[in-house]
Amino acid sequence: MSHIDLVSLLVEDYDEAIAFYVEKAGFELVEDSPETSSVTGDPKRWVVVRPPGAQTGLLLARASDDAQRAAVGRQTGGRVGLFLHTDDFAAAHQRMTEAGIRFTQPPRQEAYGWVVVWEDLYGNRWDLLGPADSGPGPADPHIGEILFSQTQIAARVAELGRQITADYAGRTPLLVSVLKGSLVFMADLMRAIDGPAEIDVLAVSSYGAATKSSGVVRIIKDLDHDVAGRDVILVEDIVDSGLTMRYLVDRLSSQGPASVSTCALLVREAAHGGQSEGAVTIDYEGFRLPASAFVIGYGLDAGQLYRNLPYVASYIPQP
Ligand code: IMP
Repeated sequence: MSHIDLVSLLVEDYDEAIAFYVEKAGFELVEDSPETSSVTGDPKRWVVVRPPGAQTGLLLARASDDAQRAAVGRQTGGRVGLFLHTDDFAAAHQRMTEAGIRFTQPPRQEAYGWVVVWEDLYGNRWDLLGPADSGPGPADPHIGEILFSQTQIAARVAELGRQITADYAGRTPLLVSVLKGSLVFMADLMRAIDGPAEIDVLAVSSYGAATKSSGVVRIIKDLDHDVAGRDVILVEDIVDSGLTMRYLVDRLSSQGPASVSTCALLVREAAHGGQSEGAVTIDYEGFRLPASAFVIGYGLDAGQLYRNLPYVASYIPQP
């Protein structure tokens, strides 16, 4: 059995680095022994700090020439280079915040758990990581697994925006948001389109508090625009049975548009590929969703709640 015992971290000064890692970051000073450099004969110190209970430590190594001094705080060229894992993310984050550690962003939830970036006294960037159930605030038992994180969604929406920009070059599409579910997606998507675009909104009846499709589509608020001669892009949150999209495409197509295309953040797998009679084609698709998952967040609701979650998670009806 072997393990990584120490990783060198270049520092400008031993004492200031020890003070930061021990007093602020909460590490333990494992060793601080006088030594002499075997190369130059100069005095130096063997200084090791380690998070409590950890196996791997940091060797705080004082920079001894110009090249090393230039690399202090930039050992990984500005990337996050060190990863501190904790069992209790919320507690560690709070303790480090109170100790004056600089966090570069608010904590966020990813598919693998909680993460936040922090910097040491020289600007070395660290991830603080913790399990999904150890985040700040009381855990909501209805919020299940994160299926698409903020980062994943942002990257996919940017791609869809680029695709739409290219496909509609020279035209001014009319983006139609199907309320309320596609509100968040629409807001991000329209800003990812580089070129002229207009927007409008349609409101259709949703499932109410239930989580199963009734198959009934009712227009609650119609478009303000006349779609005749327009290039319409229908923007939906999720295509489930495809009934809503089918109905809207047919309805708009009968009003003389130049074209109607469809865009959905999520397409439930069973709904795609022509399984259902008259299934609608989705021209711009964000992610495929497993048939069984009912999802919430990023505009999607369960009984009108959870639309404000910044990620898409599965919904647990009876925790
Ligand atoms: P469809 O007509 O069966 O395709 O259903 C589409 C609509 O159902 C979406 O616009 C949503 O409002 C709603 N919906 C379907 N699946 C989900 C889900 O997993 N979470 C939240 N809403 C959903």
